[in-house]
Amino acid sequence: MKVVIVKDYHELSFKAAQLITEQITKKRNSVFGLATGSTPEGMYKELIRLNQEAKVDFSQVITFNLDEYYGLSLEHPQSYYFFMWNKFFKHINIKKENIHLLNGITENIDKECVQYEDLIKKSGGIDLQVLGIGDNGHIGFNEPDISLNTQTHLVNLRAKTIQANSRFFSNVQEMPKQAITMGIGTIMRAKNIILLANGKRKARVIKKTIDGPITTKVPASVLQLHNDVTIIVDQEAASQFISQQ
Ligand code: PGA
Repeated sequence: MKVVIVKDYHELSFKAAQLITEQITKKRNSVFGLATGSTPEGMYKELIRLNQEAKVDFSQVITFNLDEYYGLSLEHPQSYYFFMWNKFFKHINIKKENIHLLNGITENIDKECVQYEDLIKKSGGIDLQVLGIGDNGHIGFNEPDISLNTQTHLVNLRAKTIQANSRFFSNVQEMPKQAITMGIGTIMRAKNIILLANGKRKARVIKKTIDGPITTKVPASVLQLHNDVTIIVDQEAASQFISQQ
């Protein structure tokens, strides 16, 4: 794993946007796996700025989002569909038909998941997958005690995740208890992966991810088995990792 420690959130967002831009420069029709959450918001803002200044072109880019809450309509302000359109897609020159998001209100979960995997395969596979990380080590919504070979599937969210993400809902009852997510198998097939983390809250899990044992109890630790992962962390998120060096 390559670990890049940056000063603060601003630099993290800048560095992540730079890696995305470099990937598009190498291959105009790159396929990206994209993440939601508060962590990548700054990266999206930076990419919007670069696109508006004509420094990056998304016209050939293809995207697949990592996950979606199960049971939230597309228009729900907390759906990841809503997040992606409002915070990123509507501001850049990406083609609508090149954007892929999971449908959280599908009537046929199995079909939705199989079709999603097929679409990823048909697009040639993910060139660069962007990940955040949950306090409990989840990537996408692959919660602790994952199985390693999973494809896109429906998951029950852990209490810790429900608690953490309920901050975006008016109360914890409103927060969905299930989600559809790319599996660990899907993520591990991406050719390159970047994982972003900032703030003290992530310091413990970042240390476990980078130099802890590879364990299904910390899903992100499995990334140690991938041959092209870059972890970008700010000094706060790196604090427990650095103190061991
Ligand atoms: P966050 O969420 O970016 O809002 O911290 C990350 C995650 O839960 O994957």
